[in-house]
Amino acid sequence: MRPASPSAKPRRTKGGRPAATSPPAARRAAAAVARLDRRFVWHPFTPMREWEAEPPLIIERARGVRLYDLQGRAYLDGVSSLWCNVHGHRQPAIDRAVAAQLRQVAHTTMLGLGNVPAARLAARLVRLAPRGLTRVFYSDSGSTAVEAALKIAFQFWLQQRPPRPERGEFLAFENAYHGDTIGAVSVGGMPLFHAKYGRLCFAAARAPMPRARPGVAVEDQPETRACQRLIERRRGRLAAVIVEPIVQGAAGIVRAAPGFLRLLAGWTRAAGALLIADEVATGFGRTGRMFACEHEGVSPDLLCLAKGLTGGYLPLAATLATERVYEGFLGAHADLRTFFHGHTYTGNPLACAAALASLDCFRRERTLTRLRPKIALLWRELRARLGGHPHVRDIRGEGFMVGLELCDAAGREIPFQDRAGHRVIREARARGVILRPLGNVVVLMPPLAMEARDIERLVAVTADSITAAFAEH
Ligand SMILES: Cc1ncc(COP(=O)(O)O)c(C=O)c1O
Repeated sequence: MRPASPSAKPRRTKGGRPAATSPPAARRAAAAVARLDRRFVWHPFTPMREWEAEPPLIIERARGVRLYDLQGRAYLDGVSSLWCNVHGHRQPAIDRAVAAQLRQVAHTTMLGLGNVPAARLAARLVRLAPRGLTRVFYSDSGSTAVEAALKIAFQFWLQQRPPRPERGEFLAFENAYHGDTIGAVSVGGMPLFHAKYGRLCFAAARAPMPRARPGVAVEDQPETRACQRLIERRRGRLAAVIVEPIVQGAAGIVRAAPGFLRLLAGWTRAAGALLIADEVATGFGRTGRMFACEHEGVSPDLLCLAKGLTGGYLPLAATLATERVYEGFLGAHADLRTFFHGHTYTGNPLACAAALASLDCFRRERTLTRLRPKIALLWRELRARLGGHPHVRDIRGEGFMVGLELCDAAGREIPFQDRAGHRVIREARARGVILRPLGNVVVLMPPLAMEARDIERLVAVTADSITAAFAEH
């Protein structure tokens, strides 16, 4: 099988759709892989009956912000391969760093041993993170970073002198998403994903999140006061408050009211609880700052990182803690203050090498500085092309995190069963762009490396795809 070279421009049909460039042998090989996928693979968050009924798109390789399928067709990676790619695919310096680490060792355990890139990366993360976070606990996904944070917060209070077992409650937010492990589901607030597991979960209080509403101050929103009351009522009982700072991702890219995070941090501190910032989605430049907490000068007690940590290369996560939290776990061996928690591939050296190279890239390429005009362009294009669109009733987000809420022609919400978001992403795919919906919200989350022409194309194709999805319906 010989797919077209990545530098070759993909042929397009008149409608701008990616044209197949492969000879019959390549098409046969692609069909064989598709058969294997349909026969043996169970895909995440995927209605499998429908998956089996449609020809699957199978990616073979990628370069920059483009993915290539088995037949050599190119697609713009409009969601950063599920919100994690930062500098583009096959970034030469990250490729080199992973290859160099491979010549040293691919994996050794962190239980009882250290490794070189994990130690270096921990020091870099502490320098980079909001002030006060001094210790790095590794794991391998966003869910496990959150799971570790929840258990650390819970155990921390049990190990105070004297112990504070009454501080065992968590406060989370409505529509929050923190991952799919049971602790993360317990603090999740999305009925579609979480309701069925209710009996498996621990109870957590849920507060409403005040949204960014033009012209309405955060203090004047009823959700703000409700949240404050919920925290004050639990003073002395809360272990921690967990929040997706600035933007709730899976909720549909919901921008919190400016100023809310700072207020929340203040109430949490006043209630004596720990603040857990889940920056799995917002971290590493997504909102225009390295970490979303920086927008409001907030330093949490625990910070969860994953996704963009390795530039989107390899599974790695980190839960950062303050010295105060870390010290809660120190003591004589017999005191059993140890954090008995950890995963086999924790702190994997290849993943840590990728993360170090990604952080070097941020510095060398001045990624965040160069991102500013790109963010301005993205939002200009969104407003110009989708501002008055009859089927888009809200354009929201921050930086390179965008949610477009779809509606019917009368501006009303569309029933979930209509799969409007899914129809849009199918249209986009036919036009050579990969998007992913969250119900009736179309998400745009391009790699930070995406340049102006591709940003313009991303928005233009999205607008055309929305129009087409409703025209055919
Ligand atoms: C805010 C947030 N936390 C946690 C997670 C879970 O991360 P993972 O899918 O790597 O387990 C996600 C995933 O989208 C997320 O957006």
